[in-house]
Amino acid sequence: MRPAKDFFAPLAVGAPAPLREVPARPSRAIHFFDPGNAKMAAKVPAMVGTVDVLLGNLEDAVRAENKEAARAGLIEVARSTDFGPTQLWTRVNSLDSPWVLDDLTTLVPAIGDRLDVVMVPKVQGAEDIHYVDRLLAQLEAKAGLERPLLVHAILETARGVANIEEICAASPRMQGLSLGPADLAADRRMKTTRVGGGHPGYLVRQDPPRDDLGTTRYDAERATYQQDLWHYTIARMVDACAMHGIYPYYGPFGDIADETACEDQFRNAFLLGCVGAWSLHPTQVAIANRVFSPGVEDVAHARRVIAALHADGGDGTGAVMLDGRMEDDASVKQCRVMVALAEQLAAVDPALREQYDAIDVDGGVHA
Ligand code: GLV
Ligand code: MG
Repeated sequence: MRPAKDFFAPLAVGAPAPLREVPARPSRAIHFFDPGNAKMAAKVPAMVGTVDVLLGNLEDAVRAENKEAARAGLIEVARSTDFGPTQLWTRVNSLDSPWVLDDLTTLVPAIGDRLDVVMVPKVQGAEDIHYVDRLLAQLEAKAGLERPLLVHAILETARGVANIEEICAASPRMQGLSLGPADLAADRRMKTTRVGGGHPGYLVRQDPPRDDLGTTRYDAERATYQQDLWHYTIARMVDACAMHGIYPYYGPFGDIADETACEDQFRNAFLLGCVGAWSLHPTQVAIANRVFSPGVEDVAHARRVIAALHADGGDGTGAVMLDGRMEDDASVKQCRVMVALAEQLAAVDPALREQYDAIDVDGGVHA
């Protein structure tokens, strides 16, 4: 076991020191593009500033014969684009593939200074993160990088879910986790063929009514309520990430045309604690930007509660009644989460800044 005092020591001589805290950078939408597809790669510069994260995908959805072209395309895009406030991430091939070693040994020296996060798919346990951690340190040292690359793991195997806490804790490089619903469904032998989202068969049904004689009418019409297939996994992910100071994300929502269901799924993830989701099409960037930004009314309310608990020399402790509701130390903490996220997003999103600036000090919204 590595002693605690060595946890933040670089894993190779000359590698940059690991970060003590994961930077809280906006990452509402992680927009996937295939860097080997010239048409898609050409659109990347125009997306800078409109999306928090652009991710050059080298793994699934890139055909085996195009793996090298995708890698070369990513280097080309990374070198020729000024990413400004937008982060550049990549998803490398899985650790059991014949491509990942070349992905890492090629990308780190070529564009390691431009990449923010390396997404690693199909992570099974801490041993996978340890492998990537050491290799990245060696490559960073060799390339003379000054800033450590961060690592994001996709949760898409049953073993990965079972080992979720140790994965989050495996390295100071860990930036976050994404749900990989397609691979996870396959690995768990779930009986859905959808990429994320719900399933009409996963439901609960209202109890049967009784008639006047007290007989249960099993044949009566009864309402059914569709349930969320991914609730358990997202909730586990949120707790594991919060416990380790890293960030949880919903993954892909494959039904591009169903913008409403995509928004619902993203919103559930946001309410449970996720900070963003993947985007597979530009329309999903707009959905994620909207859903993963606190609403103006929520920010207004949060500011009002904080102000009320600090009125008349208050220090945020105690209790007050606002609109018939009790607010106390704990609700102030909830409100601070909302306001902190709003501030962070407003710093990079002028349209949001304008909306939040329209909120009065007392929490009302002026026109
Ligand atoms: C994403 O990679 C997934 O498998 O859903
Ligand atoms: Mg996958």
